[in-house]
Amino acid sequence: MKALILAGGSGTRLKPITHTIPKQLLPVANKPILFYVLDQIREAGITDVGIIISPETGSYIKEALGDGSRWGSRITYVPQSEPRGLAHAVRTALDFLGDSPFLMFLGDNLVEGGVKSFVQEFDNHSPDALVLLKEVPDPRLFGVAELNGKGKVIHLVEKPKEPKTNLALVGVYLFTTEIHRAIDRIKPSGRGELEITDAIQKLLDMGKDIDSHILAGWWLDTGKKDDLLEANRVVLDSLLKRDVKGEIDSTSKIVGRVEVKEGARVENSTVRGPVSIAEGCRIRNSFIGPFTSIGVGATVEDSSVGHSVILENSSICGIERLEDSLIGTRVELKKADERFKAVKLFVGCDSSLEL
Ligand code: G1P
Repeated sequence: MKALILAGGSGTRLKPITHTIPKQLLPVANKPILFYVLDQIREAGITDVGIIISPETGSYIKEALGDGSRWGSRITYVPQSEPRGLAHAVRTALDFLGDSPFLMFLGDNLVEGGVKSFVQEFDNHSPDALVLLKEVPDPRLFGVAELNGKGKVIHLVEKPKEPKTNLALVGVYLFTTEIHRAIDRIKPSGRGELEITDAIQKLLDMGKDIDSHILAGWWLDTGKKDDLLEANRVVLDSLLKRDVKGEIDSTSKIVGRVEVKEGARVENSTVRGPVSIAEGCRIRNSFIGPFTSIGVGATVEDSSVGHSVILENSSICGIERLEDSLIGTRVELKKADERFKAVKLFVGCDSSLEL
C-alpha cells in the first residue's frame, strides 16, 4: 500500500497568509497540518509516500518534509504543473503509484483518530474503493454520496445544488488501480477540473464495488480562516497536554492545559488553556486565553489574545482584546497614540481587517 498526499493548490481562500506559506504548512496547535497527515499515514503502517506539489509552493513543502526520514517514511515528490483537479493529480502520480493500491489524503484535511482503521477495513474487505464520509450541515460545498442499506455507495455528485443526503466526501480515499481506468474515462467538470468524485462515480458506472465509512469524530478542512481557527480550537481541545518547559515568573498564572515550549518566557501574565506557546515567545503583562496558539518567537505585550492563531515572529503590543484572529508571520500590531483618533496601516494585498 502506498499513500498519495495532495499538497498543490494555491490556497486562494487563505490569502494573504498563503502568499508566503502553503496552506498545508499552516500550523494547527503550532504544528503544520501536513505533519499530522504524515503522522497518521505512518501510524497506518504506510511508509511509501508520494506528495503532489505545485510550482508555486513545492519548494516550501520539500524543505519542511525533506526525505520523510523524520517519520520513518520515504517521500517521492510529484510536481503537478497546473491545478487541474484531484483526479488529474492522481494521473500525474501514475509512475509513482504503479500497480499499488493507495490511500489518497488531501494535505489540508485532518480527521480525528487517524486513518489506520480505514486502511485495515479496506484490506479486510477488498472493495474497489473506500470513501470516508461525514454528515455536514451544508453538503452543497462538497462531494456528496448516496448509500444503500448496506453502506455501499450507489451515487456521487460533486457540489450538488440539491443534495440528496448530508454525507460529504472527506478528503481521504482508498483506491485500487481500477481508479486509473475510471480517470481515463472522465471529462473536466464545469470548473475545468478532473474531479475525483466523477472518477469514483465512473467506477460505479463500471459496476465496481465502493465501500463507505461514516466518520463519527471530527473532520477539519482547513481551507479558510474560520476553518483554521476551528481546527486550532478542536486540536487544542482534544490533543493538547499540559507541558510547561519555558520560564514562568512568580507573578504569572498558568491555568489548565497549557504548553509553553523551551526558551519561551511568560512574565506578569495569565495564560488560560488550552493554549500552545511555541519556542522563544515572550508574553508580558498579558492575558492569553483559551484556544490560542502563539508561534515561534512571537511577542505579546500589554494585550489580551483569545481564540486566535499568531504565526512566527509577530508582535502584538497594547491591544486590549484580540479575538478570532489569524495573524501571519512577522506582523506588527500595536496600539496607536491615544491623542489621535486615526488608524495607521501598512497592510499587504488580500488582507482583511475589522477595525
Ligand atoms: C474536494 C473534493 C470534494 C470533497 C472536498 C473535501 O473539494 O472535490 O468532493 O468533499 O475536497 O475537502 P475542493 O476542496 O476541491 O473544493
